Amino acid sequence: MVGFDSVGPYLQSPPYFGALIGRYSNRIAAGKFSIGDKQYTLATNNGANHLHGGLVGFDKVIWTAAPITDSIPSLSLSYLSKDGEEGYPGNLQVQVIYSLTDDDGLRIQYEATTDQPTIVNLTNHSYFNLTGDTKQTIRQHLLQLNADGYTPVDKGLIPTGEIRPVAGTPFDFRTATAIGSRMDSVEGGYDHNYVLTNANGSLQKVATLTEPGSGRILEVWTTEPGIQFYSGNFLDGKFVNHTGTPVQLHTALCLETQHFPDSPNKKEFPSTLLEPGKKYVTETIYKISVAK
Ligand code: GLA
Repeated sequence: MVGFDSVGPYLQSPPYFGALIGRYSNRIAAGKFSIGDKQYTLATNNGANHLHGGLVGFDKVIWTAAPITDSIPSLSLSYLSKDGEEGYPGNLQVQVIYSLTDDDGLRIQYEATTDQPTIVNLTNHSYFNLTGDTKQTIRQHLLQLNADGYTPVDKGLIPTGEIRPVAGTPFDFRTATAIGSRMDSVEGGYDHNYVLTNANGSLQKVATLTEPGSGRILEVWTTEPGIQFYSGNFLDGKFVNHTGTPVQLHTALCLETQHFPDSPNKKEFPSTLLEPGKKYVTETIYKISVAK
């Protein structure tokens, strides 16, 4: 995992090390969307686009933390995002529970309710390098993704709306493949939303990351229909890990479970609308093991 050893750097702009992202993970084109005939304008913080909740996203706000005294060690974080925050409609009450599973998983359960129709898409932006040493790149890591398709993007990393089959492309990770084997043929590296096969809202294993040297394995389980595979393309040594190592290009990666980027403007993508009286509920588990 990659992170800082003090709170200060977390309050700067990217890279969102280990962050809880909201209200909307990834991008919304031009920071604009409509619900019914009402148009909303969000803060833009990534060129012309809205990224990861805006200027002060959920990664930079103060959450109320409470331990849950149960048989399983858990932490509850809650936050009321006020109507109009970063341009989003509705008072959004959010609760995120982190707990350990008895098979070496970190379970993250997200819940939210609203008092006005709004959009929600929460994720976790942890970075991984399974060598345990961020001086090494993630090129040798083997990635397997249960995704037959992905959402191609334009120059600003906004999906075009197409769901393109991965077959025969450098995006095909249906069988475990070294990340570095085809990364250079993808401009800038991987930063794409994968369309998870057979996603139906139930908790399923969707990704397996293996580091051959150490035998470490990370499994990602989720109820979400998509996952952003980001190969650390914007890491440039500017941020120093808690171990004192500057985090360089492609030395850590993210597997961000999510609804697809820019869904509020893409009617063909699964909806991210949340209405009053309904509850947003999703779950993701990151599970660690070592090959025998
Ligand atoms: C996500 C985005 C990337 C980048 C990182 C943070 O993965 O898709 O383009 O913004 O977050 O640096």
